[in-house]
Amino acid sequence: MVSKKRVAILISGRGSNMTALIDACRLPDYPAEIVGVGSNRATAPGLEIASARGLETFSLAQSQFVDRDAFDAALTQKLDAWNVDIICLAGFMRILTPDFTVRWAGRLINIHPSLLPLYRGLDTHARALADGARVHGCTVHFVTPDLDEGPTIMQAQVPVLPGDTPDTLATRILVEEHRIYPEALCLLASGTLKY
Ligand code: GRF
Repeated sequence: MVSKKRVAILISGRGSNMTALIDACRLPDYPAEIVGVGSNRATAPGLEIASARGLETFSLAQSQFVDRDAFDAALTQKLDAWNVDIICLAGFMRILTPDFTVRWAGRLINIHPSLLPLYRGLDTHARALADGARVHGCTVHFVTPDLDEGPTIMQAQVPVLPGDTPDTLATRILVEEHRIYPEALCLLASGTLKY
C-alpha cells in the first residue's frame, strides 16, 4: 500500500468520534494513521483517551493568544510539526478563521449532528424535534469559511421515533456518526474523493 495519510484530530470534549477514527486507523489496510490529537480545552476527556492510546496530544487556550488569527497560527504550527495531511474536527467547538480553512481546503473535514443543510449550528436534536422532523441524522463535510456550509462527503439518516428526546436522538445518531466518519476519512485518505 502507498504511504498512509497523516491525520490530526481536533476535539473539545469526550472524543467518541475521535475514538472511532483511532480504532479505524488501527486496521492494517486503512489508508490513514492518526499522528496526534489537539484540543482548545486542556480538560477535554478525549485528550486522556488519546494519550492512553499512545498518541501525542496538545492543547491551546484562546487566553494564551491576542486574537483568533494568533490562535489559528499556533494551531497551524503544531499541525505542521506533525506533518499533517488531513485534519478531522471531531466535536471541536470553535469557529476557525477563514485563513485557516482556506489553507487546509480539501484536507479539513468535520462531523455535524444533522442532515446538512438542515440545522447548522448548535442544539440540532432539540431543533429537529421542535420542528416535528420525521428523520434526522449526521453529515461529514469539508470545512469552508462559512459555518457548516462545506460540501457534503457522507450522510446517515435515522428515524425520529415517538417519545424521542434530544438525548435519545443524539444517542441513536452517535452510532451512525461513529460509522460514517471513518468511512468518509477512508474515502478522502485513499484519494477516492475529489474536493
Ligand atoms: C458529536 O455529536 C459531533 O457530531 C458534534 O459534536 C459531538 C462530539 O461528540 N460535532 P464526541 O466528542 O465525538 O463524542
